[in-house]
Amino acid sequence: MESTPPSFLLKLLLLFSFLPNFHAKSLPTSTPSFPKQALPSKSGYLPVNPATGSAIFYSFYEAQNLTSPLSQTPLLIWLQGGPGCSSLLGNFFELGPWRLNPHSQNGKRLVLESNSGSWNRIFGLLFLDNPIGTGFSIASTPEEIPKDQHAVAKHLFAAITSFTELDPLFKSRPIYITGESYAGKYVPAIGYYILKKNPQLPVSRRVNLAGVAIGNGLTDPVSQVATHAVNAYFSGLINAKQKTQLEIAQWEAVKLTKEGNWSEATDARNRVLHMLQNMTGLATLYDWTRKVPYETDLVTEFLQKEEVKKALGANESIIWEECSDSVGAALHEDVMKSVKYMVELLVKQSKVLLYQGHFDLRDGVVSVEAYVKKMKWEGIGEFLSAERKVWKVNGELAGYVQKWGSLSQVVVLGAGHLVPTDQALSSQAMIEDWVLERGLFGNNQEENIGTNFRGSL
Ligand SMILES: *[C@@H]1O[C@H](CO)[C@@H](O)[C@H](O)[C@H]1NC(C)=O
Ligand SMILES: *[C@@H]1O[C@H](CO)[C@@H](O)[C@H](O)[C@H]1NC(C)=O
Ligand SMILES: *[C@@H]1O[C@H](CO)[C@@H](O)[C@H](O)[C@H]1NC(C)=O
Ligand SMILES: *[C@@H]1O[C@H](CO)[C@@H](O)[C@H](O)[C@H]1NC(C)=O
Repeated sequence: MESTPPSFLLKLLLLFSFLPNFHAKSLPTSTPSFPKQALPSKSGYLPVNPATGSAIFYSFYEAQNLTSPLSQTPLLIWLQGGPGCSSLLGNFFELGPWRLNPHSQNGKRLVLESNSGSWNRIFGLLFLDNPIGTGFSIASTPEEIPKDQHAVAKHLFAAITSFTELDPLFKSRPIYITGESYAGKYVPAIGYYILKKNPQLPVSRRVNLAGVAIGNGLTDPVSQVATHAVNAYFSGLINAKQKTQLEIAQWEAVKLTKEGNWSEATDARNRVLHMLQNMTGLATLYDWTRKVPYETDLVTEFLQKEEVKKALGANESIIWEECSDSVGAALHEDVMKSVKYMVELLVKQSKVLLYQGHFDLRDGVVSVEAYVKKMKWEGIGEFLSAERKVWKVNGELAGYVQKWGSLSQVVVLGAGHLVPTDQALSSQAMIEDWVLERGLFGNNQEENIGTNFRGSL
């Protein structure tokens, strides 16, 4: 240390003096609610606009077991939906290595339990609170909150590039963007942005995009909103008269969308969902088999604790909310806008996984298939006539996989809208095999017919 040249020290000093305060807190520290082994490998803030201080909060978990050199180990990015819901729901309730469990055996609330179905078993896993104003992310002014998917993607691109600069080994790792629900917009948006932006950048500044995965996504709302009535009717949840009433409400949403009356179109879609809720009397449209809604209030209680915020290096003046109303309002006119064309480019130039929990009545199997059928892509005919294969995990029926070329679709049985919460091990097997192109996601599918998907594990 003594021999360090003074100019280097000076640069180092200058560097630190320019970094905003919150960077000093990016090494998580343990507390009673947050045992050391459950802490993220890194967490803190990634600037999206250094001039104003707006920044995206992140938590990162390195792979638990390396099956490839670190410089080649895939990085998964997870984006929650909403619009305006925090990705820390994904982190602490769905796919992270430590989760809050409402059915905890020892009867204690707010105790983190390790998740054997975590998505960071063999990949790095990064949660981003997106867009700014969501979760622990900072929107310096309400005007800076994105109002469309291009603005969302621009911020995400800044956050992802600053993340990959945190460690020289991050640069070369293949990046998979994943997410759920309204991230059916965000995931294509950032994927598309990267595909367009990369060729304009020197190789060293490109984002190493390897694929995108969307769970129960809203992507082409005009096709998707028209499916609730038939889906509920043929599931036996509404009768023919109710089907007709719901169809009238759906047509209104479709009509307003086609007219480009965006705010009214969003309201019309909300009316469809409220009608369906009212007709069925279900606990939640996110999973028609549930007797109570998903117990995500646990996450709110946990993340509002001072010691937990400290442990994560989150700005302590922020009161964490599951979903932000200001972000919801900023993106109100975006809801019914389609990003199907972005998925079409991604399927041509990258690879795409669309998976759906079977019990979801909001953005489920029928809803996603309605827009997939209409995709403009030269492989769509082959995809639609490809065999839908029975998918097993550890010898048990887990769902169905349909794949052609770069497009895969998975139906996850026994799961609602939050697939990793409901079927942790299946969701882990799915993401690992899709990324690594194994089993039913391999490119020589003929060889796999009749073999156990995860037999080699
Ligand atoms: C990691 O690998 C070791 C050795 O192969 C194994 O014992 C352990 O169960 C693995 N852990 C996980 C989380 O897969
Ligand atoms: C949007 O739709 C509403 C309700 O149908 C209508 O009153 C309003 O005039 C429409 N606005 C535009 C700009 O078309
Ligand atoms: C559905 O709406 C009607 C009319 O507003 C109301 O009377 C009824 O209680 C609602 N049903 C449920 C299950 O919420
Ligand atoms: C924490 O967030 C508040 C409110 O968004 C902001 O005013 C403050 O500057 C932030 N603190 C730091 C250290 O970034």
